[in-house]
Formats: sequence, C-alpha cells, structure tokens
Amino acid sequence: TRIVVLISGSGSNLQAIIDHCQSGDIQGDIVSVISNKADAFGLTRAERANIPTQVLSHKEFDSREAYDEQLAKIIDSCNPDLVVLAGFMRILTPSLVQKFKGKMLNIHPSLLPKYQGLNTHQRAIDANDEYHGASVHFVTEELDGGPVVVQAKVPILPNDTADVLAQRVHKQEHVIYPLVVKWFSEHRLTMEADYAVFDNDPL
Ligand code: GRF
Repeated sequence: TRIVVLISGSGSNLQAIIDHCQSGDIQGDIVSVISNKADAFGLTRAERANIPTQVLSHKEFDSREAYDEQLAKIIDSCNPDLVVLAGFMRILTPSLVQKFKGKMLNIHPSLLPKYQGLNTHQRAIDANDEYHGASVHFVTEELDGGPVVVQAKVPILPNDTADVLAQRVHKQEHVIYPLVVKWFSEHRLTMEADYAVFDNDPL
C-alpha cells in the first residue's frame, strides 16, 4: 500500500503511522509526506525516517481551487493507494475530495458527529460532556462529516483544561489511526456509499 500523508504541524499521528510501518504492522510504505507549512515538525519526523517530503505553501496561490489543483497533481505523482490527513489544517475543495474518494482518511479530535470544526476540546468541556475522544473517518465533501470508521473515547475529568484533555485524546489518536491504516492496507476497509465497511474475515 502506497501511503501519502498530509500534515501542517507536529505530526505525532504521522509518527505513530511511521512506527507501525517500520514494525511491519502496517503493510505499506509512506511514499511522501506533504505539508502546507515549511516549519512543520512532522517534516523532520519524515526526514528522520527517510521519507521524501514536499512543501506546498498555500501562500503562493490566489485561490483554494488553484492550491488544491496543484496539491492533487503532487499527490497523483506519488501514485497513492491511500491519502492520510494527519493534522492537515486546510479545508479541501470538493474536486480534490472527489478525486480521492474512498481512499482518503482523516482524524478529528471529537466523537463525531459532535464538534465538527475547531476548538473541540474546549467545546466538550464547556458542554459538561462526560466523554470526549477522536474519530477516524473517510473524507467526503462535508467537512468532518464522512463515514466514521473508529472512535476512541476518553473521560473528561474534573478540572481538565483543554490542553490536558487534548493530550489524553492524542494518546488514543496514536492507537486508532495506525489501526485503521493497517486495516485499509489489508484491504479490509472500504467506503460504500455513506458507510465505512470493515471485513473481519479477509481471505
Ligand atoms: C490532531 O489532534 C488531530 O486530531 C487533528 O490535528 C491534530 C494533529 O496532531 N486533526 P499531530 O500533528 O498529529 O500531532
């Protein structure tokens, strides 16, 4: 499985996926890491693992469409089976999403469909929720709205700050994202219409 990972920041989810590729747990190779930010620490993580990196800054483009067109070209040139969004902080155009439908995954730090968008940890605390978490989902045109594959749930504890809660969620992200990528790499996971389907009895 040829995997392309898109990042904008720290890349701790990228790191988790790198680790699981290196251990052989994921039957795949990350063939490229693409960032819209030149100073993303995830690029350093990729370089340390000898993975080719590319930076495509959105600042050099007049429109979202023009950026995504170029991004699609770069992704295409990697010939990927799977595109993994791991903290890629950009809204994708419908045409980019359409192009990689069924083979693009994202991780979102909430128990979707709750708290689409930003500041999810603070919003969950403010709502006095008992639980919070993260969701891995297929990407569709609806922002943070595609079919969910797996969720990890964590308790919200008294006196939690958004930062403390975010750390608790992040730990679980590093468990569920590699797991989903592993399933995909084993051809056990597909997107059918509006559903994610897991085949637990592979040949
Ligand atoms: C994670 O919280 C993820 O859920 C969100 O962006 C963050 C990325 O973190 N989409 P990292 O760059 O993988 O450390």
